[in-house]
Amino acid sequence: MPQTNLLNAHTDQTVLVAPDGCFAETVTEIEHYTDSLFRFRITRSASFRFRSGEFVMIGLPGEAPVWRAYSIASPNWDDTLEFYSIKVPGGPLTERLQHIQPGDTIWMRRKATGTLVTDALLPGKRLWMFATGTGIAPFASIIRDPESYEKFDRLILVQGCRFVAELAYGKALAVALADDPLIGEMAAGRFQLITATTREDSPITGRLTTCLENGRIEAAADTVLDPATDRAMICGSMAMLESMSEMLQERGLSEGSNARPADFVIEKAFVG
Ligand code: A2P
Repeated sequence: MPQTNLLNAHTDQTVLVAPDGCFAETVTEIEHYTDSLFRFRITRSASFRFRSGEFVMIGLPGEAPVWRAYSIASPNWDDTLEFYSIKVPGGPLTERLQHIQPGDTIWMRRKATGTLVTDALLPGKRLWMFATGTGIAPFASIIRDPESYEKFDRLILVQGCRFVAELAYGKALAVALADDPLIGEMAAGRFQLITATTREDSPITGRLTTCLENGRIEAAADTVLDPATDRAMICGSMAMLESMSEMLQERGLSEGSNARPADFVIEKAFVG
């Protein structure tokens, strides 16, 4: 796609014109958590609409832009957009993305989509969100959306990582949620973060599948996952999606979609 770059007369900076069907957004904030994990925020065009939990394709301006699906980690009412990313060594997008600075341009396709939305679930009492690694991103959006608290009595976010340091983003989210002027009061006593690690000891050690099977997760939540009243969402690697889906099906939950809401949903398009 041919690009024309314009010169902004006020700032003397080059303005990169986005390809058709894309927004050109500006990086506003970056925070690095570990050598391989970071989050960033970008501006949000007024016409961009999405449902909390959806993903969008993003890319960096260049000769041959590489596009990747990124879950939007901020809720749909927020006036900027947050993303949480892994740095893949040699990865065609993240090798460059990890070096972005405030003021840089990010391209974002105009249409958001995805199945990790409360609309794809039948009404229920408790919402369990199971994430490994950067799979927490869509849930960072959902737990900050008042609509989630209107639809469910309790929101239980369960994140599994290899190492304790990789849990920092989720823990910071939980702390910030309590102080949030919009959500804090709604979430009080109704939101819970449960964490587990596999390659370092922590209060819950083991894979999410193992810890669901051995009752550690339900003990931490002080409740049992009841297919009659509980709904679930899963986000992580393909192997994790498969094993978690199988476990939930064995417990009597059936998989839903936007077209046919049911008891749990997964996101296959997710890229970390
Ligand atoms: P493990 O350390 O035993 O591989 P990754 O970074 O590879 O995506 O893994 C993130 C977390 O997900 C790790 O704690 C990893 O455990 C765990 N994991 C990997 N595969 C599965 C699976 N099939 N079911 C549940 N958890 C998994």
